[in-house]
Amino acid sequence: MSIAISALTPPDAPLLVLGIESSCDETGVALYDRRGGLLAHEIFTQIEMHRVYGGVVPELASRDHVRRVLPLTRAVLASAGRQLSELDGIAYTAGPGLIGALLVGAGVAQALAFGLDIPAVGVHHMEAHLLAPMLEPDPPDFPFLALLVSGGHTMLVDVEGLGRYRVLGESLDDAAGEAFDKTAKLLGLGYPGGPAVEALAAHGNPSRFRFPRPMTDRPGLDFSFSGLKTFTATTARQHAADPAAAADIARAFSDAVVDTFVIKCRRALKQTGRRTLLVAGGVSANRALRLALGELGEEMKVAVRYPALAFCTDNGAMVAYAGCLRLAAGVRNGPSFSVRPRWSLEDLAPPGAG
Ligand code: KG4
Ligand code: ZN
Repeated sequence: MSIAISALTPPDAPLLVLGIESSCDETGVALYDRRGGLLAHEIFTQIEMHRVYGGVVPELASRDHVRRVLPLTRAVLASAGRQLSELDGIAYTAGPGLIGALLVGAGVAQALAFGLDIPAVGVHHMEAHLLAPMLEPDPPDFPFLALLVSGGHTMLVDVEGLGRYRVLGESLDDAAGEAFDKTAKLLGLGYPGGPAVEALAAHGNPSRFRFPRPMTDRPGLDFSFSGLKTFTATTARQHAADPAAAADIARAFSDAVVDTFVIKCRRALKQTGRRTLLVAGGVSANRALRLALGELGEEMKVAVRYPALAFCTDNGAMVAYAGCLRLAAGVRNGPSFSVRPRWSLEDLAPPGAG
């Protein structure tokens, strides 16, 4: 079955969707057109504001979304040469995420939709991440295996179709991105940690330290990264006097995370027999991970697909796209709405399933 939007609704019906992402520390707004694809997208990252605190401060995040969401909406409309009155629907991230931050995007989306008399739809943030590779040319077909690796989640999901998700394994403690962020903090690299650890690891000696590959010596597809964090902290303390150690520790940490994902993806691909692996979420930007999973794909004759780098981390394009699929299938919110700080992917249903 093809994921193409045209397969879900008549291709000639217009469907111009505004997507708003505000679940954490990025305000993302995008305009997606069923026929023309992604027309425009804008993102404002609050990284500088939160950097001084070493992590995201929820109340500051909400307040900044309030400041950004309408100017970004104007900017995407202007860059696409479209008017608010031309929109056919509005999609927003309804969860999981920070409750105040989610409420900003949801409130603006619902109010705009009410004023324009068009439907609004709340989108699951991880479904949006999962579908982000579909924004690329020649999108893959269902079914596939998905590895979702972000700052808040780490999971392997068997995907049979839109809204048909079976979580095969997930992190029992820290998410992979969170582990990168904590490692960066331990090594004095600041926030956000993923890109900084990646850059430092590239100069590290791969054979100086060997960190454990958590939960790979027993069956199953769950993950655990908190022990790795402790291991990293202990090693950093033992070698505090050695200025070269930080790069070697970053390398050992990165190799351990990447190997763990390769082992679990191989296991999940064998278990499900899927021929396509989608990798999405902030950590999917990591080059070492992409290289290693690319080799796994070649070995297993499995296609490995990613979003464009700009759409690995949080963005409005993935929300507009996921919303467009659901709106095209007839899904819409009523006038009252809620957001869900915690929300399992498995609670989603295919459009039309009630
Ligand atoms: O998907 P995302 O933008 O936000 C959530 O939904 O959580 O992911 C952000 C996470 C952060 O933890 C960040 O450190 C990590 O993705 N990240 C990376 C890289 N770029 C971002 N981790 C490893 N390598 C990277 N290049
Ligand atoms: Zn995310």
